[in-house]
Amino acid sequence: MKVLVTGGNGQLARAIAETWTGDELRRVDVEDFDLGTPGAAAEAVEAFRPQVVVSAGAWTAVDACEADPSRADLVNGRAVGWLGEACEAQGALLVHLSTDYVFDGHSLRPYLETDPAAPATAYGRSKLLGEQEALRAKEHLVLRTAWLYESWGNNFLRTMLRMAREGRSLKVVDDQFGSPTSCRALARQIRSAVDEGWRGLFHATCGGETSWYGFAREIFRQAGLEPALHPCTSAAFQRPAPRPGFTVLDNAKRLAAGRNLMPHWREALAEVLASGVED
Ligand SMILES: NC(=O)c1ccc[n+]([C@@H]2O[C@H](COP(=O)([O-])OP(=O)(O)OC[C@H]3O[C@@H](n4cnc5c(N)ncnc54)[C@H](OP(=O)(O)O)[C@@H]3O)[C@@H](O)[C@H]2O)c1
Repeated sequence: MKVLVTGGNGQLARAIAETWTGDELRRVDVEDFDLGTPGAAAEAVEAFRPQVVVSAGAWTAVDACEADPSRADLVNGRAVGWLGEACEAQGALLVHLSTDYVFDGHSLRPYLETDPAAPATAYGRSKLLGEQEALRAKEHLVLRTAWLYESWGNNFLRTMLRMAREGRSLKVVDDQFGSPTSCRALARQIRSAVDEGWRGLFHATCGGETSWYGFAREIFRQAGLEPALHPCTSAAFQRPAPRPGFTVLDNAKRLAAGRNLMPHWREALAEVLASGVED
């Protein structure tokens, strides 16, 4: 299968490259073209003629998006529509990645796909626009995921391990809840979903839930490290874009749709740690 992956240098794209080994993959990123340039993605799709396009490229710097919402809307929103049109012209499936940030985080139970979206940040609003654009494509699969990490890339796991190595004392928020999700588990799930012909919008995170503090504690427990680790509230960590408090995503629709390749988050973490985390 020929697959074009945007956001090619990102953590999820690398996981796709490492797990979709039987496919002919082309990863593209900013050095190939800017997603925000009209016509650029269409040209790449036309030239490569993929059966599947994975839209993993996004401006994921949440606080920077808050300072430039129109750029966020362009890259995370309108650009997805152009990609969808290119897929349609090519007869390709568009697989688009979205986020828990489309919700405001005030729910008292895990979010369903049918719950109304109410993003509280510019990043969340731009990603919601991207979802809506993706859903217009004739053949589409939209997966909302959350709290991604890997043994490579910019993520919480690597930040925690680096700070512990540096002997730093750590304060981690204990009032934001979600489901840590390894990119490799998500990559395997996406491949299987493509094989099984899923279409529509699905939540796709690893099982279980925890706070960032709970995630940090488990990282250090499994890694056999004992840094000074303290819980704190979000109020102690003021940021330009407010982080949602509770964005656990209900995965029942995904579990009913086909094979489940996303283990409990603790199990996924063990797999990533066992494979060795890059310094
Ligand atoms: N990370 C998470 O926790 C998380 C959670 C939920 C959903 N998601 C979604 O999952 C997908 C994959 O996330 P990820 O963590 O793999 O992201 P990532 O590591 O930040 O990778 C995204 C890639 O897209 C590139 N990019 C940014 N702006 C671009 C532009 N204008 N033109 C072309 N490329 C551009 C980035 O380049 P630069 O690094 O130079 O910006 C980066 O290489 C994204 O759609 C994201 O919104 C992520």
